[in-house]
Amino acid sequence: RRHVLSLADFSPADYDVVLQTASSFREVLSRRTKKVPTLQGQVVANLFFEPSTRTRSSFELAAKRLSADTLNFAAGTSSLSKGETILDTAKTYLAMGTDMMVIRHKEAGVPQAIAAEMDRLGVRVGVLNAGDGQHEHPSQALLDLFTICTLFDSEQPRLSLLEGKKIAIVGDILHSRVARSNIWSLTASGAEVHLAAPPTLLPRWFADYVADSDDRSAPNPRQLFVHWTLNPALENADFVMALRLQKERMTSHLLPSLREYHQQFGITRDRLKLCKPEVKVLHPGPVNRGVEISSDLMDDPQFSLISQQVTSGVAVRMALLYLMGGGKVA
Ligand code: CP
Repeated sequence: RRHVLSLADFSPADYDVVLQTASSFREVLSRRTKKVPTLQGQVVANLFFEPSTRTRSSFELAAKRLSADTLNFAAGTSSLSKGETILDTAKTYLAMGTDMMVIRHKEAGVPQAIAAEMDRLGVRVGVLNAGDGQHEHPSQALLDLFTICTLFDSEQPRLSLLEGKKIAIVGDILHSRVARSNIWSLTASGAEVHLAAPPTLLPRWFADYVADSDDRSAPNPRQLFVHWTLNPALENADFVMALRLQKERMTSHLLPSLREYHQQFGITRDRLKLCKPEVKVLHPGPVNRGVEISSDLMDDPQFSLISQQVTSGVAVRMALLYLMGGGKVA
């Protein structure tokens, strides 16, 4: 595929190709040299119009491990401040010979608009959505998927390994592009996905899936359930994914008191007793330490997959760049 903008159009085969390719690159990253000539001569531009630590750095490292040249753009020091438009910024990078653009923006739809412009111009430039507003964050969901699947089969991670598992996604669903992409991938796997959030942090369109009403009569082929309280989502869960409270996107009436939020929805050692004994906790980061997850739990390797998620990010982003760039694994 030319662009990776959303997981809505990913097939099970697409997920498995990404998982298998990431697994190959994880092996490359375990070697002493850690580098392959796959994308030598290609240019990857990281166009981040919104702050990032993990996504930007791991795309840059992934591109470098594939021997591509990288260009890093930071909105604050760019010619955007002189009035240049986003599309003209993208065309400027195109004119320098960019082959792939990795784009983050606070507004939903910006990567899609740039991809459409590249297609209109008839150029073979791939666009990767690195997080657009509240819409999607495909590479985050793919690295989450890889992190979970490799726990069950580290050599051959595949989507079907999650069939029948229960996964709770907890917190600020309303503002979370990570949740939206994860809902596509995890429900495609055949897992039961349970969302838990205060009603003010749940999008209205999830109302059809509210499970707290005990009305399970409506067809729910994607096995998506919604709860306004935490415990039903945690009961017998195999995985708990906590989401960051996105204070920067909240109007004051949506922003709960952090203490109250932690009391009602914070993931703690005690609350994990409701889950399967081998439960694992994920968080896409950055974390509001002690709010979404208790501080001690966040650092406990028995439960926390947070560091593994970051590590997986490099291999998964190498896989995405490789698949878009058409190289060969050496
Ligand atoms: N998870 C995530 O997207 O983190 P960054 O904002 O640091 O890239």
